[in-house]
Amino acid sequence: ADPEPVQDFCVAVPPAGGGAAAYPGFPCKPASAVVSGGFFFAGLAGAGSTDNAFGSSVKPGNVLSFPGLNTLGLAINRVDLAPGGVNPLHSHPRAAELVHVVAGQVLVGFVSTAGKYYSKVLTEGESFVIPRGTMHFQYNVGNASARAMTVFNSQLPGVVGAAAALFGADPEIPDAVLAKSFQVDAEIIKLLKSKSRK
Ligand code: GLV
Ligand code: MN
Repeated sequence: ADPEPVQDFCVAVPPAGGGAAAYPGFPCKPASAVVSGGFFFAGLAGAGSTDNAFGSSVKPGNVLSFPGLNTLGLAINRVDLAPGGVNPLHSHPRAAELVHVVAGQVLVGFVSTAGKYYSKVLTEGESFVIPRGTMHFQYNVGNASARAMTVFNSQLPGVVGAAAALFGADPEIPDAVLAKSFQVDAEIIKLLKSKSRK
């Protein structure tokens, strides 16, 4: 989904302060200054903590954490799920996602623009693909911890969290808009906001 590269590589000069993506990527380090380590990333070794309300952890390997990905149209995440844990509903505006389960039993699902729900329970070694921009999740349906690697055709797929975008936006979307949109009482919106606002 990203623009085609115009050179072999463009290991990014790490953006100051984590920064937003420049178009069509970040500036390149001079090629003569790039060593093998520029193409290496160890940040997905080890599980993140799943000791949270979702029982899940997502460690990102995108251009912000892994500068060697700059201009290459690729990213990878590590998703860890405690038993019953969920990587909650979200979408990626800039990439399709390939989910590859490495351990455990994971229900993966997405909804198409036709409103059809597609899903599958995956075990070790199995993959599922999530079309760009569609709302999706991973849910651990086994009784042991589960792990998936997720791969993207963008160096920075972006994440729109369903609950975060609707009920955790800053500043807030007015309660009246949300209540009308979902055809529920404002009290329900307030409850949902209380879970999502930081
Ligand atoms: C999983 O859906 C991920 O975005 O890593
Ligand atoms: Mn995803």
